[in-house]
Parts: sequence; structure tokens; C-alpha cells
Amino acid sequence: MKKTVLLSLLLTTLLFANKTSGEKVFRDYCWGCHHQTAMAFGPPFSSIAAKRSKAEIMAYIISPKSMYKKFGYKRSVMTQLQLSNDELDAISDYILSYKGKK
Ligand code: HEC
Repeated sequence: MKKTVLLSLLLTTLLFANKTSGEKVFRDYCWGCHHQTAMAFGPPFSSIAAKRSKAEIMAYIISPKSMYKKFGYKRSVMTQLQLSNDELDAISDYILSYKGKK
């Protein structure tokens, strides 16, 4: 009985530790240039969420240089980042969670 409890505690801890959090990716990579709802160097997540799909958001993060024209920018100053697939997925959902927020 005790062993089962310990084992499930351990499993839950591992599960949570492994889940990439969108907020962490935001703080680690985006925060210097983007804010959630306020304009910073780059546009706020709330306005990105209002006009882009998840696929578009992911494509932009993977390669700003090949996407900026399609998105209507005259130039691109956003850094090309190397995110893992998990991080990419988590940060895209995080951006979309600001849809409709002010
Ligand atoms: C060095 C500053 C900088 C960093 C770091 C940065 N961005 Fe950007 N981002 C910008 C700027 C400026 C733009 C506006 C277009 C451009 O210059 O590429 C932009 C544009 C975008 C767009 C497209 C906006 C649109 O019109 O839909 C997305 C999506 C985006 N950034 C996501 C991210 C995410 C997610 C991160 C972190 C993982 C990040 N950016 C990190 C500066 C940055």
C-alpha cells in the first residue's frame, strides 16, 4: 500500500516536471520583446492570437525570416530561436490563450 502511494507520487512529480510550460518558454525566450497584452518591441500575444492560427504562429517562430512578408511586415528583427517541438507547441498554446484578453 505504502509503496503504491510513493510510486504514484513519484510518477506525478515526473509527469509535471516533464511537461513544458508555455509560461516558462515565454519567460525564457520571448519576454524581452513581447508582453502578453501590452505592446513591447514586438506585438502583444493578445493581438497575435486574435488574427493567427496555431500553424501560423508556429511557422513564424520557426522561421521569422521566411514568414514576415506574408504577415505584412516590411522587415524582420525577431530573433531566430531554436525551440524543441514541445516548447514550440506549449508557447503557441500559451499565445492563443490570450485570445480576447485586453
Ligand atoms: C529580439 C526580440 C524578439 C524576441 C526575442 C521574440 N520576438 Fe517575436 N517578434 C518580434 C518582433 C519585432 C516582431 C514583429 C515582426 C518582426 O520583426 O519579425 C515579432 C513577431 C512575432 C510573431 C508574429 C506576429 C504576428 O503578426 O502575428 C510571433 C508569432 C512571435 N513574434 C512570437 C514570438 C515568440 C513565441 C517568441 C519567444 C519564443 C518571440 N516571438 C521572441 C520580436 C521578438
